[in-house]
Amino acid sequence: MSIDIKPLAVAERNACPAEFSFGEVFADHMFTQTYDVNQKWSNAEIKPYQTLQLDPSASVLHYGQEIFEGMKAYRTEKGDIHLFRPRENFKRFNRSAARMVMPEIDVEFHLNALMELLKIDNKWVPEKNGTSLYIRPTMIATGAKLGLGASDKYLHFIITGPAGAYFKDGFSPVSVYVADKYRRAVVGGVGEAKTGGNYAASLYMSEDVAARGYSQVLWLDAIHGKYIEEVGAMNICFVYGDHIVTPKLSGSILPGITRDSILQLAPTLGYTVSEEQLAIEDILADIKSGKITEAFGCGTAAVISPVGQLCWKDVDYFINDNKAGEVSRNLYDELTGIQYGLREDKFGWIE
Ligand code: COI
Repeated sequence: MSIDIKPLAVAERNACPAEFSFGEVFADHMFTQTYDVNQKWSNAEIKPYQTLQLDPSASVLHYGQEIFEGMKAYRTEKGDIHLFRPRENFKRFNRSAARMVMPEIDVEFHLNALMELLKIDNKWVPEKNGTSLYIRPTMIATGAKLGLGASDKYLHFIITGPAGAYFKDGFSPVSVYVADKYRRAVVGGVGEAKTGGNYAASLYMSEDVAARGYSQVLWLDAIHGKYIEEVGAMNICFVYGDHIVTPKLSGSILPGITRDSILQLAPTLGYTVSEEQLAIEDILADIKSGKITEAFGCGTAAVISPVGQLCWKDVDYFINDNKAGEVSRNLYDELTGIQYGLREDKFGWIE
């Protein structure tokens, strides 16, 4: 399927602002295509960024049938643009689609649509150190009916916008409150799909912990209330000297691409890795005894975010004296080094 390209005239285009935070400013153009059961995917176009017109009865507004991805484009020192493992995002998008009874999108078509969008909005990929263009592919159910059932119409769009550090304090350790009453997702539910409801379900607890002075929530499994799953919107890793351990995917944990990259990258830096079921009480005991030397969250938006403090049942446990550690820093430098073209791309991750 070809893409109809209707860009703004060059004189009408906006410049990427010099200052921005995360997810608040958007580039000039967007990609859209529509699906209906008869025509399949059609009307692929790139056009000026604009509001959507939706029927108020559209399924997405009532039953939350929607999925999205988070990925980034990086500007190298030479001025080229790098994408990091984009096919992995598009494959996960399709897995999320299947779980939410939504149509899949050909991975190569999805990548081509993104590349075309980046060609037009090339100037929006910022240059400043540590910045990138955040990319948000999304699909929503647009069928106009209130009867509960999978929609027969969908809109797929890609929007982008310049992104600075996800956390305002950059690479400083975040404080984390362990959720003891509320759960994010359950095995058999939609926790491993990247669908908006998982994030909506996390907001109550996020607000609650913010009011207590903590930055992120640590989520435990919903069946036993015992095993560690995710931190905020990130996967989590614990460091025991030269060993890195992360919760093994359970069905209710999002299979992060940054998580997977760390599992592959860490052994090349001399660390060993494992994926295990991690009970909160064991982790706290290992923090207390000093066996755990560092902890960090990882995800596309935040990259690697050191965790300095865990609060469980009103007791605070400090990791590495609440300082960012060497392992987190090495992984951050290596990963971002590959993304920005400063380090060898040993795995062929860059497009
Ligand atoms: C990402 O890391 O890209 C995400 O999708 C998390 C989002 C809440 C910013």
